[in-house]
Amino acid sequence: MSDDQFKNVISHAKEYGYIFQSSEIYDGLSAVYDYGQNGALLKNNIKAYWWGAMVQMHENIVGIDSAIFMHPTTWKASGHVDAFNDPLIDNKDSKKRYRADVLIEDHVEKIRQKIEKEVKKAEKRFGDSFDKEQYLGTNPRVMGYQEQISTIMNRFVKAMEAEDLADVKQLIEDEQIKCPVSGSMNWTDVRQFNLMFGTQLGSVAEDATTLYLRPETAQGIFLNYLNVQKTGRMKIPFGIAQIGKAFRNEIVARQFIFRMREFEQMEMQFFVRPGTEMEWYETWKERRLNWHKSLGFDIAKYRFHDHEKLAHYANAAADIEFEFPFGFKELEGIHSRTDFDLSQHEKFSGKKLQYFDPELGENYVPYVVETSIGLDRMFLAVLSTSLQEETLEDGSSRTVLNLPAFLAPYKVAVLPLLKKDGLPEKAREIVNLLKFDHMVQYDEKDAIGKRYRRQDAAGTPLCVTVDHQSLEDHTVTVRFRDTMEQIRISVGELPALVNEKVALSTQLEKL
Ligand code: GAP
Repeated sequence: MSDDQFKNVISHAKEYGYIFQSSEIYDGLSAVYDYGQNGALLKNNIKAYWWGAMVQMHENIVGIDSAIFMHPTTWKASGHVDAFNDPLIDNKDSKKRYRADVLIEDHVEKIRQKIEKEVKKAEKRFGDSFDKEQYLGTNPRVMGYQEQISTIMNRFVKAMEAEDLADVKQLIEDEQIKCPVSGSMNWTDVRQFNLMFGTQLGSVAEDATTLYLRPETAQGIFLNYLNVQKTGRMKIPFGIAQIGKAFRNEIVARQFIFRMREFEQMEMQFFVRPGTEMEWYETWKERRLNWHKSLGFDIAKYRFHDHEKLAHYANAAADIEFEFPFGFKELEGIHSRTDFDLSQHEKFSGKKLQYFDPELGENYVPYVVETSIGLDRMFLAVLSTSLQEETLEDGSSRTVLNLPAFLAPYKVAVLPLLKKDGLPEKAREIVNLLKFDHMVQYDEKDAIGKRYRRQDAAGTPLCVTVDHQSLEDHTVTVRFRDTMEQIRISVGELPALVNEKVALSTQLEKL
């Protein structure tokens, strides 16, 4: 997708009430966005899909909703006060600030793309007899690129682990990484920058306590581990899920809702017996990828990326990357967090956070496998993939938002063909028939063709048109967004048809 197409996604999101810049009338607030009338509905539907798949479909997973404010010691124990940093670097000519790790990863991605190009060329050359694995393992040029990537990444990981920021800068210089804006290599030193937002609790300055806005929802789950385990009589393995806001003072917040300073996460911590975490890690990688694939988008848009540099709490980690309009980027993380968090909270709180395993007859601190997805990123993945510009058989074009029907904000638009002759009243009857189960829109303005196009662009999967015949025989025309096919059915058949097409339950059954 080109830059122009991405710009098109952003302007479409605004025009159709999906996403607005926050505080727009005051010229906006950087990297903060509001969800409009359609956006709020799409977002809720994505949450329902996640919650349904995680909580409703698993007897051993329950959901909570913990507060954004937490005791400040939480963040000391979790390591966020000391280690939740990004390495930043400024270009002295453009005055632009970058994450050093992102500059390096983007550079590596470019080398990776060279490999892809070579593979494509070879595929063409060799046709059906092409063996990709063999080619990757034997072609000298490709092997050279691979070697280059691992040398860069090994050096970077080593430098970060040793907190050798001077070497990170040196690596950027050695690789001749230039500022994308100024094109120069006039870099400052690399510095660490903590991403947490601090605020004050209490009205009197001297007595005020510094609190942090949570940078991940996971800690609310860890702090409630024992409450939930005991009151829910949960037996290991079990999970606790949560959807909620998180806040990060991102250094570089670009690319629309991909990287925001206020965003939402959907996280699940799965508590397991020590020693079984790798099995569960693999299981959750597979289950989560399956959740994504079930949406029916092109599966070539997904790939796993194993972390080379692990977060301070993890012994294994992988991202599910998605091909966004600006390339493959992290959409979801699956992390094996060991017993790091619960052990740290035991240490800092002095309270035992253990589990008595009746089968083993012993107490232990459970290990944790986490799945963590950004709701806003998921929203962007869905929106950008669904927006299509189609050329029709007659040569005309239409803009259509091919959202999976169960995610669409409005499921049905009811359209009286004319604004007279009792057609609006009949159409209102149909709205009243469907509105208890679905979001239904009534639209009587403009010619019918124009109304269809408007609903196509807004993503409404079904249009129901009421005409004069409807008054006589109680039938209506149903038009399908994706195929533009039209069928005539009786009003009595409508509720079942709509249900069949848009129900979340049908989607959950696919998992
Ligand atoms: N509890 C683990 C954790 O927070 P993470 O990889 O830092 O891990 C998890 O974040 C997910 O949250 C990411 O995969 C991404 O989808 C989303 N996310 C992280 N930072 C974000 C930001 N600034 N804006 C939007 N989404 C973000």
